[in-house]
Amino acid sequence: MTASSVTSPATTRAVPDPDVLALGPFLSPAIFGKRADQSSPVRPHLGSIKRQGRDANWGRGRDGDGGEKMSNDGADAVPLLTPHKMGRFDLSHRVVLAPLTRQRSYGNVPQPHAILYYQQRTTKGGLLIAEATGVSDTAQGYKDTPGIWTKEQVQAWKPIVDGVHAKGGIFFCQIWHVGRVSNSTFQPNGQAPVSSTDKPVNSVHVAKFTPPRRLETGEIPLIINDFRIAARNAIEAGFDGVEIHGAHGYLIDQFLKDQVNDRTDKYGGSLENRCRFALEIVEAVVDEIGPEKVGIRLSPFANYSGAADSNPEALGLYMAHELNKLGILYCHVVEPRKVKLGENFENPYNLGPMRDAFKGTIIVAGNYNRKDGNNAISSGYADLIAYGRLFLSNPDLPRRFEIDASLNKYNSETFYIPDPVIGYTDYPFLSSDI
Ligand SMILES: Cc1cc2nc3c(=O)[nH]c(=O)nc-3n(C[C@H](O)[C@H](O)[C@H](O)COP(=O)(O)O)c2cc1C
Repeated sequence: MTASSVTSPATTRAVPDPDVLALGPFLSPAIFGKRADQSSPVRPHLGSIKRQGRDANWGRGRDGDGGEKMSNDGADAVPLLTPHKMGRFDLSHRVVLAPLTRQRSYGNVPQPHAILYYQQRTTKGGLLIAEATGVSDTAQGYKDTPGIWTKEQVQAWKPIVDGVHAKGGIFFCQIWHVGRVSNSTFQPNGQAPVSSTDKPVNSVHVAKFTPPRRLETGEIPLIINDFRIAARNAIEAGFDGVEIHGAHGYLIDQFLKDQVNDRTDKYGGSLENRCRFALEIVEAVVDEIGPEKVGIRLSPFANYSGAADSNPEALGLYMAHELNKLGILYCHVVEPRKVKLGENFENPYNLGPMRDAFKGTIIVAGNYNRKDGNNAISSGYADLIAYGRLFLSNPDLPRRFEIDASLNKYNSETFYIPDPVIGYTDYPFLSSDI
């Protein structure tokens, strides 16, 4: 691809609202769906266990704030440290860097400090998923999140991707549109954010979100095309593939979930219609870069920013079947995560049918520690585990899991600060003599 095929918007960027910036992507407990007393533990589906021919031995331990020594559950063969073949990628282990918004891409342009940050978390044959990256100038909802729709952004990603490749990592770019989880100050010309609906986000932070404008049916192909071009640009930047962000209440989820999507056209109403937008995006991206380079992240069971569904199991299963037809590489499913210290939300739904239906690699994420991850792998519940907060604070997380070492605590106060070092590249590695 030539650089000229990289799109550049004609619109100018607005100055972000400091109040909105303070919000951060994942702060409101109200967005985390089921309450603890509604829940029952997740169990691996029998089909998965049979496939592995093992006892599930399922258990979800506590990780506290990520700091204490974890129990040794059999260091001889650490399931998380076993290889996995994902399409043409030979992964050397199953500890994936989850996509993590860090808000250090000033003016939506990735910065050189991200080279060190991602390199620190790279292992030979390890999979990293880059932070959510905007597909267009209407895709933004937070200050200083990266984009991949301009030439400058694509160029800025290149040394970061090169840094990961130099250490033998496999790097996917998560491509993103926030939809209504935004504010007009982030939008070109101060316009309203776009969504499947004109209903505003129903959250404790409702004042921070500008009521959205419902996309007209005829505009939807334009958004789909933004994802297509973003995927092309990601490959141009050197990424090994893209993860389409279909989770967490952002634009794609706003179409998928029946508690948000109130459309009466072919993108609303029935399950099939609500999934159409997501699947047309996947199809366009597959058409552009090939199915072997495409993953998707979904959170059918969660309720972020009011994006809940009345039948998440049917939603997840339908998507799994339809994604099979498009032959994509992986499906990354988010389970509700702990939102308060000492309180562990468990997913009341069963991922098993979706896991069994989907033919590609299954990645799961959501409050996993070493023990949970090992159990999920050995039971066949998942192929790979994405770690967010623990990988953020432990750049050498696979090595620590390998030797069952203590973990650094994460500091949530520094998740989203703009500092290029603090809370970003200053988490310590194990000393070399361990
Ligand atoms: C600081 C931070 C930033 C995050 N940014 C993203 C993001 O950009 N895209 C995304 O899909 N999920 C994002 N997440 C969710 C994580 O990928 C992950 O699913 C979540 O943290 C649960 O995993 P954990 O319990 O291992 O942290 C973020 C989470 C945190 C803590």
